[in-house]
Amino acid sequence: MILKNLAEETRPIHEKVERENVASKIMDHTISLYQYGKLLVDNYIAYSTLEAYVLAHKAKLPHVLLPFVGEDKSTALMHDLNNLHETLPETYPFNPVDNSWPALAGMIYVMEGSMLGGMLMAKNIKQCPSLANLGEQYFFTGDTASKATRWKQFKEVMGSIGFDEAQTRSAITGAKEAFAYFETVYARGSSR
Ligand code: HEM
Repeated sequence: MILKNLAEETRPIHEKVERENVASKIMDHTISLYQYGKLLVDNYIAYSTLEAYVLAHKAKLPHVLLPFVGEDKSTALMHDLNNLHETLPETYPFNPVDNSWPALAGMIYVMEGSMLGGMLMAKNIKQCPSLANLGEQYFFTGDTASKATRWKQFKEVMGSIGFDEAQTRSAITGAKEAFAYFETVYARGSSR
């Protein structure tokens, strides 16, 4: 139920981010290598900031969510940025109004869910002429099996927690704030 609520409530902002994001150029295979590098830079800002935020507050979280707390996404991005000789950018502050545990769970939902779109992107990277010579990618990895398993596990864990009405509202607030942060980073970023 919580996953259904989160998906429904964030659908409009997901569609907006999807439309405006340069990642759409991966989907239609028109992206340049320069734009790809800048997309990774923007993603690095967003994921490293959100991951660090959740990590700093992880003591509040139900222990079943802890396997989804860490810096794996920004570490993968750092790897890709190093390979492209991009410098690691300064990050912007993230100051959500709600940092209760359900709101943190909503933020984790956005980061975990975004990897589903990433799986699609990984498939299309190989068909982009400008990205044909890239070596292995760590963030947009083609390892779809482990990503699909992780998403399934995340959904099970969220379903097992039991969010009451107020907690559901907080989770939605956290998810919307995380999406809004991505939107800000992309809007200010250099990848457009
Ligand atoms: C061009 C960019 C993007 C594309 C093409 C895209 C595409 C997709 C696709 C195909 C799914 C899977 C839907 C399903 O299997 O039910 C998905 C799910 C999701 N994406 Fe994106 N996405 C993009 C960007 C983003 C970004 C930037 C974020 C977050 C910052 C994000 C967050 C999510 C979330 C949270 C879900 C899970 C939805 C659910 O609850 O089922 N996506 N996306």
